[in-house]
Amino acid sequence: MNVLLMGSGGREHALAWKMAQSKKLGAFFIAPGNAGTSDYGENINISPTDFEAVKKFVLENKINMVVVGPEEPLVKGIHDFFLADEKLKNIPVIGPAKAGAQLEGSKDFSKQFMFRHRIPTARYQTFTKEKISEAFAFLKTLSPPYVLKADGLAAGKGVVIAQTMNEAKKELEEMLSGKFGNASAKVVIEEFLKGIEISVFILTDGSNYKILPEAKDYKRIGEGDTGLNTGGMGAVSPVPFADSSFMRKVEQKIIIPTVEGLKKENIIYKGFIFFGLINVEGNPFVIEYNCRMGDPETEVVMPRIKSDILDLFAGVAFQTLDTKKLEFDLRSAATVMLVSGGYPGDYEKGKTITGLEEVKDSIVFHAGTKEENGKAVTNGGRVLAVTSYGITMEQALAKSFSGAEKINYEKKYFRRDIGFDLSERIFPEKQEIKIT
Ligand code: AMP
Ligand code: GLY
Repeated sequence: MNVLLMGSGGREHALAWKMAQSKKLGAFFIAPGNAGTSDYGENINISPTDFEAVKKFVLENKINMVVVGPEEPLVKGIHDFFLADEKLKNIPVIGPAKAGAQLEGSKDFSKQFMFRHRIPTARYQTFTKEKISEAFAFLKTLSPPYVLKADGLAAGKGVVIAQTMNEAKKELEEMLSGKFGNASAKVVIEEFLKGIEISVFILTDGSNYKILPEAKDYKRIGEGDTGLNTGGMGAVSPVPFADSSFMRKVEQKIIIPTVEGLKKENIIYKGFIFFGLINVEGNPFVIEYNCRMGDPETEVVMPRIKSDILDLFAGVAFQTLDTKKLEFDLRSAATVMLVSGGYPGDYEKGKTITGLEEVKDSIVFHAGTKEENGKAVTNGGRVLAVTSYGITMEQALAKSFSGAEKINYEKKYFRRDIGFDLSERIFPEKQEIKIT
């Protein structure tokens, strides 16, 4: 099977790494890819949102399957574009059509969807600029901190947690006046939920689903979860508190009603669903849906899947996911993200990366890198994800931290405390896990 994978981050390198292990893989292309993905296939210089260029490439190269990494092409309707084209309509796209991608593309849509299907989530209301006085009145019914969310895609920056009423009002005014462009023309205001977050993923063919290994990511730039939000500074899988009783609740209260809800609404969803959850005293609530895998979560989830990922994707495409087996690697996986100094604010690019070959006990996934004269140079805020396995989370983390030390480029930074809140000491029952 000839496959085109779209995207250029650590997520796509991890997907490419996993897809390249499949017996079903024929020719493999990544658009646009990075300095890591070129180890597994050919990087092609096409933007995932340039649908006409994608079409031309797919037809000329006899592509049999398209796997979409990031949300933007999905929310913009790449799957619909394929379905509407006589020559493309039989080529499977892994990733939902526009209607399903709205779960991520519109916070208002996703909140309404959750309420329609009684899926646990924070109480909310949505407002436009004309309704600002009603919005202020709604804020008064909540207690601080206040959660404000731009309705549309805002490159991961559209959520603001305001500590005081004044801050919330000011932020709301700015958002409704275009702080995030059209994405914040509508703003969702919701109740603040207190708990610990976890990312749960499924792969669905629209009818059947498989639950992938869960993960926890670390979004803040600073140690101890302080400072600005980033795309993610590290991740671990499994997550100690996600025991079978918690995961049963996730499946019963969240996954099943979501898949059934999509079906009832005639939304044919083929791809990943990422449930951003929060554990409030043992009960899972949905913070957000994403219509794709997480990054850096993919860098620990893919290494924990033993089964052939292209075989699972074929199950998604042909609605036979129920006949496929999903096997997990029972070891822990951890990833530590190396970023450019200054990120998530301004940072420099083009720094030469050295020491990659010194890392022997880990898999180094490239995120913001590119090749220049045969050498890898930095090309983004998040540069490399160092993933390792261990019998315990601590062992996996120790290997990743040690790998992260061996790699160098000017102004390298990484968090040395990934996993700090999940130590096995707090969850002694987890130490009994036996690895076969
Ligand atoms: P998002 O961009 O939707 O992932 O949101 C960014 C972060 O804001 C989440 O990872 C949470 O830490 C936080 N957040 C979003 N909604 C809520 C909520 N209702 N209660 C508490 N924290 C929230
Ligand atoms: N790591 C969170 C995300 O991918 O949105």
